[in-house]
Amino acid sequence: MSPRCKKIACIGAGYVGGPTMAMVALKCPDIEVVVVDINEVRIKAWNSEELPIYEPGLDDVVKAARGRNLFFSSDVKRHVGEADIVFVSVNTPTKTRGVGAGKAADLAYWEGAARMIASVSKTSKIVVEKSTVPVKTAEAIEKVLRRNCSDPAVQFEILSNPEFLAEGTAIEDLERPDRVLIGGKETPSGRSAVEVLKSVYEHWVPAERILTANLWSAELSKLTANAFLAQRISSINSISALCEATGADVGQVAHSIGTDSRIGGKFLNASVGFGGSCFQKDILNLVYICETLGLKQVADYWASVVSINDYQKQRFVERVIEAMFNTISGKKITVLGFAFKKDTGDTRETPALDVCQGLLQDNARLYIYDPKVTENQIHADLATPKFEWDHPGSRTPSRKQDSIKVLQDPYEAAQDSHALCVLTEWDEFKKYDYERIYDSMMKPAFVFDGRNILDHERLRKIGFIVYALGKPLDPFIQKPYS
Ligand code: UDX
Ligand code: ADP
Repeated sequence: MSPRCKKIACIGAGYVGGPTMAMVALKCPDIEVVVVDINEVRIKAWNSEELPIYEPGLDDVVKAARGRNLFFSSDVKRHVGEADIVFVSVNTPTKTRGVGAGKAADLAYWEGAARMIASVSKTSKIVVEKSTVPVKTAEAIEKVLRRNCSDPAVQFEILSNPEFLAEGTAIEDLERPDRVLIGGKETPSGRSAVEVLKSVYEHWVPAERILTANLWSAELSKLTANAFLAQRISSINSISALCEATGADVGQVAHSIGTDSRIGGKFLNASVGFGGSCFQKDILNLVYICETLGLKQVADYWASVVSINDYQKQRFVERVIEAMFNTISGKKITVLGFAFKKDTGDTRETPALDVCQGLLQDNARLYIYDPKVTENQIHADLATPKFEWDHPGSRTPSRKQDSIKVLQDPYEAAQDSHALCVLTEWDEFKKYDYERIYDSMMKPAFVFDGRNILDHERLRKIGFIVYALGKPLDPFIQKPYS
């Protein structure tokens, strides 16, 4: 095993692999870092001026290191073969068919990557799990690596180094992480591999923030962290329904409980639902693992976090329909925001998707505006079956539906509309000229704020009927027929 790392290869140039390796390269000029992917289009984009993902600050980091010690290549085998450390950051989608469909993680991409690593390795390597995987994946991967490498002198050491970055703040999270977690086997070679990876992070992360654990703890920590974060959102979202029923204000409740230092104030924003590529997928995966281990009560407990999330999205759609006199058929509804959260163009598992599908089911006409999501992406998402988005090649090509229009201008999107639905918390939505928007809309003009970011009192003064999640209901909405 190389005592020092000279070359890193990262398999998978996605949301995790790309930004993480860009930061490693920036901070470790003495290490050559190559991000490889079978998707040539993606690699080409990483080598261009227009990066394949939007992330604040990413352009600068890539520009500073690309061509110096950071490279993006589709020559997967060559770079993996030459590397001392191989990060595996491929997709681990939820299975859409077969045993565990709808819950279990599909490890086909992982196994494919492991077989490829084994076949091209002429020197010993540290293989690092970067993408979230089910607990005990390392054990299976190790077997695949060992049995598929013809050179007995080549040793593989598996580490789990889960990534905790959040999209939109990826660069900040990578530069100043709360912690870096490295899990390894408790053997001499396992410990020495942990030290090698630690030495990479020590280029910029203070030593006390680099935690080590055994492999299984590290794998489970990642699933648990996401499950806990999602659970907080479902908890406050469940309370938002209770607030609406009682006249309490979820913002005030969240603030009061958040000041208790044992609870803390972060991740308590009630919303139309959590989205993103990780939360739902990881919880479903956790549920599946518990079920297969016979831990039914534990599985049910975590499954309820996803059920509340689905309930919240459905509840929002029902509110819109109910408030608008129980029919939205043929009505134009403006959707502000399609990304799963602000400051990203990512739409994976975005709550906007389920809300839009729900509104379309009731024959609404949707005019969608998002500052970062492209028209093609929105049409493709609305045409793609659940869970298919994470299976490369199986995404349904963009198919335009007559009832959906995607616009580049929010004012144009709102023209002649009956209602605005805020589904992503983009800052720019707070700054619009709502007098102008109100004047251009059908009356009564509704605002359904699924993120509680707008100034509701001001909107009411302008004349809007406002529904805000978890806030006392507008009398107009409370008793639409009285
Ligand atoms: C998450 C984890 O935060 C990160 O550590 C992990 O590595 C990957 O998954 P990400 O999905 O990028 O990151 O975004 P995050 O900021 O966690 O938001 C997830 C979803 O929860 C978004 O849809 C967001 O809008 C929603 N959310 C977040 C709320 O609805 N309320 C909140 O208070 C916080
Ligand atoms: P994440 O959000 O976890 O980064 P993405 O889906 O954005 O996930 O990226 C995963 C990337 O991994 C995709 O670009 C895909 O093409 C790539 N990939 C999957 N399997 C392999 C493989 N065997 N070799 C190289 N790249 C792969």
